[in-house]
Amino acid sequence: MRIAVFCSGRGTNLQAIINAVKNKKLKKVKIALVVCDNPKAYALIRAKKARIKNIIVERGNFNSKSEFEKEIIRHLRKEKIELLVLAGFMQIVGPALLNNYKNRILNIHPALLPSFKGAHGFKDAFDYGVKVTGITVHFVDKDMDHGPIILQEAVLIKEKDTLESLEERIHKAEHKLYPKAIGLFVSRRLKIAARKVKIIT
Ligand code: GRF
Repeated sequence: MRIAVFCSGRGTNLQAIINAVKNKKLKKVKIALVVCDNPKAYALIRAKKARIKNIIVERGNFNSKSEFEKEIIRHLRKEKIELLVLAGFMQIVGPALLNNYKNRILNIHPALLPSFKGAHGFKDAFDYGVKVTGITVHFVDKDMDHGPIILQEAVLIKEKDTLESLEERIHKAEHKLYPKAIGLFVSRRLKIAARKVKIIT
């Protein structure tokens, strides 16, 4: 399956997906495109190093979200992309992408949804003082950090944790869970029924 990974920043999840494909932990997947909205993102360097086609589409260059997304869709069609994987993509997905790729957009969030939605999930959980947080991979729908949940994993917060040490464990967990969720999608083992995602064994 030809997939596109969407990034805005460091791209450590992109790297984990690249590695999983390379190590054959993630089979039948070709990362055919990296879509980035930030020309300074390190994710672009990772894409180039792995010789993956990459494009920069900046929201600021378009009058509306719809025009911005239409330009992205043009590239996705050209590359025959079947699955969109959001990995630290700092844009809220709008109707153009959602309607064209219904139930074909995944996101990873660094907290146990529906708790701590938004751009600072793991920091908000840490500051709140929860003892258990974690990560969530979910389908994207019209509401932020809301779509049907595919996989979740808990991460315990220890007394001696700092924001940095927690971030490290959250990322480590993400780098394993995201390739696993993509693998489930690609092998067509995910069935969505209303809010629930059934994993076919
Ligand atoms: C991850 O923590 C992910 O959960 C969130 O954004 C972060 C992206 O990190 N959506 P990276 O760019 O993959 O390193």
